[in-house]
Formats: sequence, structure tokens, C-alpha cells
Amino acid sequence: MSVARHAQDILSPEFAEDPYPSYRVMRQETPLVWHEAMQSYLVSRYEDVERAFKDATFTTENYGWQLEPVHGRTILQMSGREHAVRRALVAPAFRGKELQDTFLPVIERNSRELIDAFRQQGSAELVGQYATRFPVNVIADMLGLDRADHDRFHGWYTSVIAFLGNLAQDPEVTAAGERTREEFAAYMLPIIRDRREHPGGDLLSALCSAEVDGTAMNDEDIKAFCSLLLAAGGETTDKAIASVFANLLRHPDQLAAVRADRTLIPRAFAETLRYTPPVHMIMRQVAEDVPVSGGVIRKGSTVTCLIGSAGRDEERYADPDTFDIFREDLNSTNAFSAAADHLAFALGRHFCVGALLAKTEVEVAVGQLLDAMPRLRLAPGEVPAERGVFTRGPASVRVEFDAA
Ligand code: HEM
Repeated sequence: MSVARHAQDILSPEFAEDPYPSYRVMRQETPLVWHEAMQSYLVSRYEDVERAFKDATFTTENYGWQLEPVHGRTILQMSGREHAVRRALVAPAFRGKELQDTFLPVIERNSRELIDAFRQQGSAELVGQYATRFPVNVIADMLGLDRADHDRFHGWYTSVIAFLGNLAQDPEVTAAGERTREEFAAYMLPIIRDRREHPGGDLLSALCSAEVDGTAMNDEDIKAFCSLLLAAGGETTDKAIASVFANLLRHPDQLAAVRADRTLIPRAFAETLRYTPPVHMIMRQVAEDVPVSGGVIRKGSTVTCLIGSAGRDEERYADPDTFDIFREDLNSTNAFSAAADHLAFALGRHFCVGALLAKTEVEVAVGQLLDAMPRLRLAPGEVPAERGVFTRGPASVRVEFDAA
């Protein structure tokens, strides 16, 4: 890896090309920076990012401008009892018995259908033909939405995530996000009204009949929830699956180990979350002056927590720029719970509600793809390059294998 002497600007093409050398300089020399164009502080050390996620002084009020214009009001920006009660509505679907009994078959079927389209061909592009489609298909099926509309969901969540990560305040990205809000509302609200009259066994019907403190959620609340689930569950897991494969394909010995012992998949996923996390940054807004490494974050300001940097912190992980699924300083048993010792799902109250769903999806994806692709290798000349600054993952992963 190249060693930068100064950090590239976070909005520059050089940073987008490879943010890791700049993260290192920030951690070591400027662990707290004010970024004028983003109107935000940046924190890059593990200990500061961890604290921002756990300490309630770091509020999520930033989502009022960062997400509400496209999603409506969601649990991300709620706090206290309102947050806890809303979160409890969806959490059961994403863990334990309901995940295993109701949704695992949905996950397995969706994965198999996508793989069937290329398993005979001996080659595939895993991002376009699998990763970008699989998680959004799963969440749309969980909600009981029409399979024929899956491509539209994908377009919508891409635009929502672009709005969220619009660090340079590009007006076209803003306008596209606002259009998505209108299109999604026009699509979802009639379905919600219909589902209230004709409930089924799906997650959307459950949200329609759920009560929060004795009050049902209104149609707008439910629409916002669905919008969040599509975006939070689509974009992230899509990048995670592509990154697991990109990382393993670059380390054939570790790929061989996972092929031989599938119980290593959670380790490969956890190490990918540390090494190349799908979400590289999350914002917070501080309610008080807060001292962190390198200075004080002033009350009311926005702070961008650099998850991508925290995962490479040399104070936290040995040899942090090496991908090693067997590393001893990352516990893969806790990696999908709020006791995780990586920060890719955040920590604290807003810890990713879909972490176990994501783990199940990755286990199914990696397991089925390895079964379908004997002698898997990168296509000649393929070097999976990462793209994105806010969320980040390989743009393509072209592979070859021995067709069944
Ligand atoms: C590898 C995959 C995933 C990653 C890296 C990821 C990452 C994150 C992160 C960093 C947060 C915290 C946001 C914050 O604190 O501001 C979060 C929250 C959330 N995630 Fe995920 N996520 C993933 C998969 C999923 C899936 C599959 C779903 C569900 C369909 C999901 C639903 C949510 C929801 C609803 C929240 C908000 C929780 C709250 O505010 O209490 N995520 N996720």
C-alpha cells in the first residue's frame, strides 16, 4: 500500500481512488479535522468513532436533513422510548426463529434463482449478476412486494444512498433523491392501504397492524420504514457480498480454507467488515461540547465518524492493512451483535437492526456460490476496484469457474 505524507481531501478523486493512506495520516496526525465544505468535523480513530456511537451526547439529529427529505422520518433519527418501541416492531423479523423459519427459505430461494441464470456459463460478473440483486430481492419479498418491480427498488435505493452520501452537496443528486421520495410514495401508499384491508403473512402487513404505545403507525410512517429497509438492507449487504468475494479471491489460500470449511464464512464476513466496510462513514450531531483525540467538537456541530479508518487503526488491530480471516483481535462470534469489536454496524442504540439478516444472507450467498462455482478464480485481467466514498465496494468482480 502507498504511504501518503498528507491526507487527501475527502471530496477529491485521489481520496475516492484509495482512502486508506489518507485515513492513516488523519489518525496519526489530525485525528480531529474541521471540513469546511462538508460543514462537519471528521474523526478517524477507533476509540473516537466507537465513543460517538455509544455516547448519547452524539445524537442522530443530523438525519433530519441527511435522510428525512428522501425517506420521511425514520428510526435512525429517533431517540429514547420512541426509538426503542419502533425498533422493537421490526427487530423480531430480523433475528432468531422468525429469521430461521420464515425468512431463511426466502433467502435461499432468491439466491438460487440468481445463480441458476449463470451456473452453466463458467463465468459471471458477481456484482451485477448477483450482489446488487440478491439483498433487495430478499427485502422486497419479506415485505410482500411485487417481484416484477425489483429493478425499480434497486433504482430507488441507489438514489436514496446517493442523497445520504452527497458530501459535495451536488444539486442533481439532491433533486434525484427528492424525486425518489415522490415516486416511492406514489408506489407504496396504495399498497399500504390495500394491505390494511387485505393483510397477509408478510412484514408489511405486520407493520400495518402493529401498535406503538397503543397507536398504530400511519401510512406515512410505514412508507418511511419500508424506504429505510430497502436502502439500509439493499446497498450495504450488496457491497458486503461483493467485498467478501473480492477479498477472498485476492487471497486464494483463505478462499480455499472457506471452501473446505463453511463455518469460516462468518469469519470471512467479519474480517471484510473491518477491512473493507460497506459503510465508510456515519454522521452524528453533538448536543454538548465534547473533547475527543485532537481537540473539542463544538456543541451543535456535525461530526463524520470514519468507520473505514477505524477498522484500519493500528492502535486497535495488529497489522491492520492485512486481510486475515484468522486474525485473533477480531471476534467473529460477537461480530453480528452490539458487542462487536468492529464498527461496521455502528454500536449502541442504533446498532444495525439487520446485522443477523445480513449474516444469514452472506452465509447463504457464499455457500451457494462456492457450491455452484468449482475452481473459482478472478477472470484474466480482472482487478476488483473499489468505488464510493460514503458507501464503498467493488465496482465489478468478474470471475471464471468450472461450469457444472
Ligand atoms: C453488511 C450489511 C450492513 C451494514 C454494513 C449495515 C450498517 C449499518 C450501520 C452502520 C447502521 C447504523 C447507522 C447509524 O447509527 O447512524 C445501521 C443501522 C440500521 N440498519 Fe444496517 N447494515 C447492514 C445490513 C442491514 C440489513 C440487511 C437491514 C435490514 C433490512 C438493515 C437495517 C438497518 C436499520 C433499520 C438500521 C437503523 C437502526 C436504528 O436506527 O436503530 N441493515 N446499519
